Amino acid sequence: MDSPEELAPAAVPTAEAHGPHADLAAGLLATPATASPKYFYDARGSALFEQITRLPEYYPTRTEQHILSTHAVALAGEIAPGATVIEWGAGNCDKARQLCSLLAPARFVALDISVECLREGARRLQAACPAVQVSALAADLTAELALPADVPCERRVVFYPGSSIGNFDPPQALDLLRRMRRLLGRDGALLLGVDLLKPVPVLEAAYNDAAGVTAAFNRNLLRHANRLLGSDFAERDWEHHAFFNAAHGRIEMHLRALRDLVVRWPGHARAFRRGESIHTENSHKYSLGGITDLLARAGFSQAQPWIDAQGWYAVLLARP
Ligand code: TRP
Repeated sequence: MDSPEELAPAAVPTAEAHGPHADLAAGLLATPATASPKYFYDARGSALFEQITRLPEYYPTRTEQHILSTHAVALAGEIAPGATVIEWGAGNCDKARQLCSLLAPARFVALDISVECLREGARRLQAACPAVQVSALAADLTAELALPADVPCERRVVFYPGSSIGNFDPPQALDLLRRMRRLLGRDGALLLGVDLLKPVPVLEAAYNDAAGVTAAFNRNLLRHANRLLGSDFAERDWEHHAFFNAAHGRIEMHLRALRDLVVRWPGHARAFRRGESIHTENSHKYSLGGITDLLARAGFSQAQPWIDAQGWYAVLLARP
């Protein structure tokens, strides 16, 4: 049998990927291989992600909720009723319910890449909060965003919870914060959830849960890729690998090949050595100084932080 290295060049007609999901194909063909985390979120991926947020090891979601409810009065004092809340990556809109009862906005615009999950979530949110005008918008939040003309420009509050900002490299995070700032105009505000640096065992446990939900979530990307590209990834050939990279201050998630193998899809093939991995996600952890500095560079002149007692997580209210 040929070694994967010998096999690959003959099997790959062209190194360039075209067509829909060309970025996914290009990432899989690159060395080291990568896949954008947006490919986690098909319907099953979104459901698995919801489970992650309830895991005992996964402290960020519940810590964020705790911070929001602890400082509800202060927050409501900062954002008067009648605002337009825009949630970036709203998922099942679970967090939105808490926020809507807290802030009493006039409008709530839920943005997400996974439409199935979003529509259902927005419908439930509308039922729970009849006084709020709820709309759901499918959006690739990695691209430039145009909101419908009927979304008011005044008093916008962008809600970006769950430390999703950490899933971008700092330069991309800066770019994203700048885009959000432009969306806000002068009188808006950004409500941002950020996971903070803390002892490594706590960080690593959050991405290596005992029940294996994070592993299933990570490997689901392979199924999703199979559907999108027509590739032949076998989930059993890949293991979840998550660890803290101290040099970059981030958790890295990888899918690691358990044996030498070749993955094929129409027009392409990619050989992987045993132990070689596909880098699927980063989750950057910030110091309070680090995130405040990034916000300042993105044009937010003030940022009011709220932090839990352990100092594990921060919610910041930032204004242009
Ligand atoms: N942004 C959060 C984090 O990085 C949630 C998240 C995104 C996540 N992708 C994930 C959590 C994958 C676990 C695994 O923690």
